[in-house]
Amino acid sequence: MSAFLNHAGASPPTDAVVRRMVTHLQREQEIGGYEAADEAAAEIASTRGSLARLVGGLPAEIALAGGATDAFERVMFAHLADRGFFAHPARIVVDPFTYSSMWLALSRWAQIRPLHVDVAAPADDGTVDQDSLNSLVDERTDAVLLTHMPTHQGTVTDAGRLFPSLRDAAPAALFVLDISQTVGQLPIDVGTIGCDVAFAPGRKFLRGPRGTGFAWVRHDIATSLDPLSLAFGSTVAGASVHRQPDDATRFETFERPIAALLGLGVAAAEALVIGVDTIASRIADRSDAIRSILDGRNGIRRLGTDSDRGIVTFTHDALGAAEASQRLVAAGIANRYMAGEPPMCDAGGGFEDSVRLSPHHITTDDELARLADALGRVS
Ligand SMILES: Cc1ncc(COP(=O)(O)O)c(C=O)c1O
Repeated sequence: MSAFLNHAGASPPTDAVVRRMVTHLQREQEIGGYEAADEAAAEIASTRGSLARLVGGLPAEIALAGGATDAFERVMFAHLADRGFFAHPARIVVDPFTYSSMWLALSRWAQIRPLHVDVAAPADDGTVDQDSLNSLVDERTDAVLLTHMPTHQGTVTDAGRLFPSLRDAAPAALFVLDISQTVGQLPIDVGTIGCDVAFAPGRKFLRGPRGTGFAWVRHDIATSLDPLSLAFGSTVAGASVHRQPDDATRFETFERPIAALLGLGVAAAEALVIGVDTIASRIADRSDAIRSILDGRNGIRRLGTDSDRGIVTFTHDALGAAEASQRLVAAGIANRYMAGEPPMCDAGGGFEDSVRLSPHHITTDDELARLADALGRVS
């Protein structure tokens, strides 16, 4: 008896994803890793194509990476270097839900060079406050990083409303969106949103393998930045870099897990076949169902908002979130304990400790019945 409600952590991949990885590993065993990669080159390209369709971009704007943080660091560092990070202090504005690894990267860079990070205030609806953002962003801002959906709460930030209004104030800034919890869960159109860069891992609602991720980088930006680690085959002459790929693959590394990236391609193609609209409405339905199960139970206090999707959180006033989470795990309900304190939430999102339940479109009524049963026994 079990239920899997940790899709926001790492959603189990489908049989087809696992099979594709295994067949590639077997091929590497048979003919060698470089040779097998050559055979799969077109399929790796179509992985970029599927990811591009999922975010509304072009295949040439996709850089495959090892995860969200990896993708973020590659592009953000190149942008800061381009903006003269090594000559004058950089200024970045983030929302209060910035995921800890992005926050840690910026904090570490700030130890090396002057880098000022302003954190915008939260809004009452669980997203970021527009006035606070407006007051922090000006012509000196080098980058703005927003989180489409935080790891602690299933609220969706209306980035398409916020970014365009900020661009006038900071025309040279890079507008970056963390879509780690929304890609594969919600329809995304980077053009409508008006960001320059979006990044995500493969393992969450996309249902790709662990150790995969990607960045979408708008073409003019992708081709004007020099990554910190240059693509294999690039050459350097004085201050210039030559022979870099003429697309976002300049942010990729030569060595990477080809089998996992092929699995990511299968997962992305599967999401497209099912349809992200279908996935989104099913996840919303499952999230509503979880709320109904939680509400009215002794000791349980639901957190977040009534429209949270994909991530539903609660605490237990008598047991505490950590204990409630553990008891659910012992009862066969995969969930995640989310600490409200750093290091999970360094940008000061002000979350309480919580139990995170994250359903997907594949979450069954049986699984929800098991959750209800288990909650009855742990409370
Ligand atoms: C909102 C958000 N951003 C970024 C990440 C980090 O992704 P990765 O571990 O692939 O760097 C997570 C992981 O949970 C996340 O929820």
